[in-house]
Amino acid sequence: MCGIVGYIGDGNAEKIVIEGLKKLEYRGYDSSGIAMNFGGKLAVEKRKGRITNLEEVLEKSDYPFENCHLAIGHTRWATHGAPSDINAHPHFSMDHRIAIVHNGIVENYLDIKEKLIKEHGIKFVSETDSEVIAQLLSVYYEGSLEDAMFRAISEMRGAYSICAIAADEPDKIVATRKDAPLLAGIGNGCNFLASDIPALLKHSREFYLIENGEVVVLDKNDIKIYNAEHKSVVRDVFHVSWDAASAEKDGYDHFMIKEIHEQPKGLTETLMRRLGDDNSIKLDGINLTKEDIDGFNKVYIVACGTAYHAGLIGKYAIEKFAKIPVEVDVASEFRYRDPFVDDKTLFIAISQSGETLDTLAALREAKKKGARIMSIVNVVGSSVARESDDVFYTWAGPEIAVASTKAYTTQLMCMYLVALYMGRVKGAIEDAYYNRLIEELKEIPSKLRKLLGTEHQIQDLAKTLYKTEQVFFIGRGTDSAVGLEGSLKLKEISYINSFAIAAGELKHGTIALIEKDTIVVALSTQDDLFEKMLSNIQEVKARGAFVIGVAKEGNTAIEQQSSHTIYIPKCMDEVAPILAVVPLQILAYYIAKERGCDIDKPKNLAKAVTVE
Ligand code: G6P
Repeated sequence: MCGIVGYIGDGNAEKIVIEGLKKLEYRGYDSSGIAMNFGGKLAVEKRKGRITNLEEVLEKSDYPFENCHLAIGHTRWATHGAPSDINAHPHFSMDHRIAIVHNGIVENYLDIKEKLIKEHGIKFVSETDSEVIAQLLSVYYEGSLEDAMFRAISEMRGAYSICAIAADEPDKIVATRKDAPLLAGIGNGCNFLASDIPALLKHSREFYLIENGEVVVLDKNDIKIYNAEHKSVVRDVFHVSWDAASAEKDGYDHFMIKEIHEQPKGLTETLMRRLGDDNSIKLDGINLTKEDIDGFNKVYIVACGTAYHAGLIGKYAIEKFAKIPVEVDVASEFRYRDPFVDDKTLFIAISQSGETLDTLAALREAKKKGARIMSIVNVVGSSVARESDDVFYTWAGPEIAVASTKAYTTQLMCMYLVALYMGRVKGAIEDAYYNRLIEELKEIPSKLRKLLGTEHQIQDLAKTLYKTEQVFFIGRGTDSAVGLEGSLKLKEISYINSFAIAAGELKHGTIALIEKDTIVVALSTQDDLFEKMLSNIQEVKARGAFVIGVAKEGNTAIEQQSSHTIYIPKCMDEVAPILAVVPLQILAYYIAKERGCDIDKPKNLAKAVTVE
């Protein structure tokens, strides 16, 4: 997904912006570019492909970088117009006096473009929606870039964050946002802009979060924020406690495996910050009274991708512990079918980034219908968090790899906590059962550490499997939801065609695809469904499948049926998903590694999808 970095100060702006863009590579991109102001003359360089392509061009150039104290940069993930040098950002205005970078979509760009061509004779060079912003700014420019920006955004519809510079104002960067992230970083004798915190962590821990409709003006000593009425506003400083190192690889080959290993820590943070000595749960000040909970006739959980899979487990947990009916839906479907949501609905949005546009749009739809909005989000201050009535953060820390791992397991932990909290306040769960579950959750991080200690066995297994082109995941109950996540992990990073199905459903069609040596991962972690799973395993074995059984330690009966067994530590069935998913994450990782895939940046995928 697109990324933005801007810098103004006495340092080498080109170097700082390129470094910042590299920190955003994890978001996924297909081209990159930079615009610089050399004392009143703008220069733009941009290239399709990796940032190194751009760096090569800059290295060969004779730009006097020592005189460049202002620059804006961009990584693009194509939406309007193919990935190419021309479509890459920054975009110039026709007179080359204004340059912009843009994340998001200008929905009415065709109307604006037509008007600019007809009334002002503007010639466009790219296929992008973004170029209209540069042209519009230049048409409105009368010596103040912020004034031009206010006029331009009053004509634009869509979601965007925009940074602009003008040749005639070599001491200023102007930026704005609507439904796409933008923050200003506070430096010492310098200031920054970015779409995402890791871009700036090396330079600053203090930020201003820019709100929808605001215009922010940076010079090297000051950051001024103006609201939609053009009035100056005072914003609290947002302090980030994590350091740059936690956003980097820490010696692991990939962010994904580093993040897999960070799960015990993330889970401890997510759990222990919320538990009292008496096992009571504190929901970060969320005020959900017995009256509120009794008033809910339904919970709706909405999310995308991995977060949706966490929602499926959330349904099991809330229905079992709090006895409230739960519907789970993918965000891109939810709002287009007039869902039954009203003021008696608790709507839970789950999102790692908090910026997924479909999830945000679903949240707004539910809000319009009167639902109470709770979100489970990893990125503090993100759009989903800000637009929710209540936010319950996953404390996973920054997740860089596109394939989500630690965000998923901490989302599960949050779901358990919310479900147990509601169950207890409502009086739907017995104390002894509640306390047993809390004790089990407390043990999860140490059990996970133990499980991670068996990583090399899964790595060896991956070496024997990596050439396969097809894998099936089967399971019952919560295991069927964990299978969906295991399957997603495998396909997104290794490009192996994988398919997850409820084990009981297999015989209604999919079993036709099982033949000699077909790989089937059979999740069998639920004690009361264990025997039924053994029968399902026999069904696929009878057709020659290579079965990888996943079971709890002690359930050795599975070894007779499986070609290979992976054990997870003993635990209560209810919490097994947090453990069961981890071998699947590791398996996907090592299979992708054996296949030589670009694990942290899989093709065609993006970390945060801010388009519909
Ligand atoms: C993208 C990512 C997935 C993620 C999904 C939802 O598709 O590649 O890993 O699960 O978006 O993202 P969110 O930030 O809302 O959890």
